[in-house]
Amino acid sequence: MEIKILENKTEVAKSFSAYFAELVQSQEQLFVALSGGSTPKTVFDYLASEYRNKIDWTKVFFFWGDERCVPPTDSESNYKMTVDHLLSKLPIPEANVFRVLGENDPEEEALRYGELVEKTLPLEKGIPQFDLVILGMGDDGHTASIFPNSIYLWDSSRNCKVATHPDSGQKRVTITGRVINQAKHVVFLVTGASKKEKVREVIRREGEYNSYPASMVNPSSDSLVWYLDQEAAQEIK
Ligand code: 6PG
Repeated sequence: MEIKILENKTEVAKSFSAYFAELVQSQEQLFVALSGGSTPKTVFDYLASEYRNKIDWTKVFFFWGDERCVPPTDSESNYKMTVDHLLSKLPIPEANVFRVLGENDPEEEALRYGELVEKTLPLEKGIPQFDLVILGMGDDGHTASIFPNSIYLWDSSRNCKVATHPDSGQKRVTITGRVINQAKHVVFLVTGASKKEKVREVIRREGEYNSYPASMVNPSSDSLVWYLDQEAAQEIK
């Protein structure tokens, strides 16, 4: 595990973007599972503005690690957020974008997306292998859309499951632990003071860390990098 502590969100975006560009450069093609929420916005804006001509975007195939079960035009949609901050600004072929159909029945879509991932990605030990999974972490220790109160989803034998947000009840489709930990590279993008306690507990294996899904992230490739800003890292410095 590598921990990179950067001054602020912009520096996190800069550092991650350089890592991402190098990864794309080093491969024929790159299958990436994106995270949602708000942290990625700064990163996506930076990638779109600074790396438009520095990356061969036709090599990148975009999936989502989790998606809210809402239409693609809904402000809650991770796909919409990604279009607004990244995809609409870059020469990315439509065929390279594999969105979760948030408007569909959640259970049917979890099945469909799990099968899509399985048939599109290379398999490693029979499990779909992303080149890169980008994760965020909630201040409750959730990651993707696996929340502490349904941590059992992590160990599902399925590639994708339906999760329910503990506060809003919103249904989500999320990839599971088997897919996350099979990835060649996993990155956490975590910023803001609200995450500092969980960052310490998860990284230092302290407190009730083993009840937080973020603690279950342990790719067999051993390639796990945390990109933190000073605020999120203040309890581990
Ligand atoms: C989502 C995400 C989720 C997110 C964390 C952190 O769909 O919301 O995938 O796992 O990464 O909740 O969200 P913020 O970056 O907004 O704090």
